[in-house]
Parts: sequence; C-alpha cells; structure tokens
Amino acid sequence: MLSQSLQDALNEQVKNEFYSAHVYLSMSSWFDDKALPGFAKWMRAQYQEELAHGLRIFDFINDRDGRAVVHGFDTPPAEWKSPLDVFENSYHHEQKVTAMINNLYALAVKENDYPTIVLLQWFISEQVEEEKNAKLIVDQLKMAGDNGSAILLLDRELGARKAGGENETKSLDSAA
Ligand code: FEO
Repeated sequence: MLSQSLQDALNEQVKNEFYSAHVYLSMSSWFDDKALPGFAKWMRAQYQEELAHGLRIFDFINDRDGRAVVHGFDTPPAEWKSPLDVFENSYHHEQKVTAMINNLYALAVKENDYPTIVLLQWFISEQVEEEKNAKLIVDQLKMAGDNGSAILLLDRELGARKAGGENETKSLDSAA
C-alpha cells in the first residue's frame, strides 16, 4: 500500500499531467487558428499522450489500494507570439515536468517503495523523449526563421505524427 505522502504526491502529478494535456490542447487550437494543421495535429497527439500519462499514474494509485482523486484544473495559456514561442514554451514546460518526476522518484526511493520506483522509471525515460522532441522542433523552427516555405514544410512533416503519439505506443509496449 502507498504511504499517504506518496499517494498525495502521485495525485499531484496526475493533476500536473492533465494540466499538461490542456496546455497542449490549447496549443493545438492556436496552430489551427494560424492555418498550420500539421502542427495542430502534432499538439493534439501530445494532448492524448499527456492524458495517457495522467491515467497511468491514476490507475497505479488505485491498483496500490490508494485513492486517486480528480482535481480542478487551471486554465492554460491561449496566446503565443509565434510557432517558435509555442515550442519554446513546450520545451520549458517539459523541463519542469522532468523536475517534478525526479522529485517524485527521490521520494519513492526515500520510502523504499519499489513499485512506485518502477513506475517512475518509465516516466524518467519518457521525459528524455519529451524534451528531445520539443527541443528538436525548437531548433528546426530557429533554422526556418521567417521562411514561410520552411515552416509549411515542417507543418507537413509534423502532420504525419499518428494520433495518440507513435512514441507513446512504442514506449507503452516496451514497458509492458
Ligand atoms: Fe507527461 Fe509531457 O510529460
């Protein structure tokens, strides 16, 4: 069974993951509005990934005879200056999530809670992917600059991402 402190911390992370989902859904809407459907689709897939992250922790809490709770959520930002601004925010957001996961891991280690340690090892690997993906697009958008053709090319490329997130499916399979 989970300790109360670990249960509270995991419930907080459920809230954080669902908040991340809403941030990405808001970003998806921003791209749709800017006639960049490929970026919008990529962000929509990211939204679904974050929902899956939240549910993964939510189910784990209940599986451990704890009590997962549903929180209210803060309204995410809705406006950004440019596609680069969106992805820089996304990258910084993921860095913050990485720090949260690392703190959770430290707590699980302190409490010798081995199942939670195993759960969080998946998230630690996932955060490496999350930061890598966001940073790559930041760098590509910097290269593109104000070149509309390059942005449209990137839009086409990002639109090829599968709904739900290809990486997510692979990661979940390998974690099973
Ligand atoms: Fe669930 Fe993007 O971290």
